[in-house]
Amino acid sequence: MKNLFEIAEACLYSANIDEKLALTHQAWQTLTNGELILNSNDPILPIARVSFPDKPILLAPRNMPRRKLSTPEGVSAFFHAIAHVEFMAIYLAWDLVYRFRGMPEQFYQDWLRIADEEAQHFELIRIHLQSMQMDYGDLPAHNGLWDHARDTAYDLLARLAMVPRCMEARGLDVTPAIIARFKQLGDDRSVALLNRILTDEVGHVERGSYWFKFVCEQQGFEAEAKFRQLIKQYYQGGKPKGPFNREMRKIAGFSNAELDWLEDQEYL
Ligand SMILES: [Fe+2]
Ligand SMILES: [Fe+2]
Repeated sequence: MKNLFEIAEACLYSANIDEKLALTHQAWQTLTNGELILNSNDPILPIARVSFPDKPILLAPRNMPRRKLSTPEGVSAFFHAIAHVEFMAIYLAWDLVYRFRGMPEQFYQDWLRIADEEAQHFELIRIHLQSMQMDYGDLPAHNGLWDHARDTAYDLLARLAMVPRCMEARGLDVTPAIIARFKQLGDDRSVALLNRILTDEVGHVERGSYWFKFVCEQQGFEAEAKFRQLIKQYYQGGKPKGPFNREMRKIAGFSNAELDWLEDQEYL
C-alpha cells in the first residue's frame, strides 16, 4: 500500500515536471483502486521548501510578455500564461492535500481528483503550445500565484477562501469572454480546450465552497461571515475585482448574498 502524503511530498518537493505529472496520475489511479493510505503521522515539511523548476523564469505581472490574441505570438504567450496557471494549480491541489491532515476521506479524494485534472489541463495546454512551436518554460511567467498558498499554509479556512473561492473563481469570471474572442477568431481548438477547462474549474470552485462550509461548521463559524472576514483580512481591506460571473459562481456554491456583497464595492 502506498501513502498519499508520501506521494504529495514527492510532488511538492521535487521540481521535475514529468515526474510530477506521472506521480499525480498514478496517485489518482491508486486511490480509485482503493490502494492508497489516507493518513500519516510523519511531520509536515515547511511550505518554504517547496521546489519549482528553473524555467519558466518568474517575473512580476507588469513585466509579462504582451498577449494580444490578434497575433500568433500573443496567442502563444496567452497559452503559456495559462500553462503556468495550470502548473501551479497542480501544486496548489497537492499542497491542500499535504498540509491539512485529519480530514474525512472524501476531502482527500476530492483534492487528489482535482490535482489529477489540473495535470490533465497542463498537459493539454502543453500539447497546444507545442503545436505553436513553444514549450512551457520558453517565456517568463507570473511570480504571484504561490503567494496565497504561502500566506495560508497554516489555516485551512483561509486557504479554501483564497485559493478555490478567489483565485480559481476568478477564472470563471474571465474565461467566457476569452472563449468568445477565440470563437470570433475561428480558433476552434482553443475554444474546445478552454471550454473543457472551464467546466472542470466550476467543479473545483464548488469543492472549495463545499469544504469551506464543512470546516466552518466544524469550527463553529457562520460560513458567509467568515468568508467576508477572511477577504477583508487577506485583501487588506479591499475585495476581489469583478465583474463576477454570477451564474457559474452560483453553480460553484456562492450564495446570492455573497455575490451581492462582492459586487458592492462601496460596502465592506
Ligand atoms: Fe485547471
Ligand atoms: Fe482548478
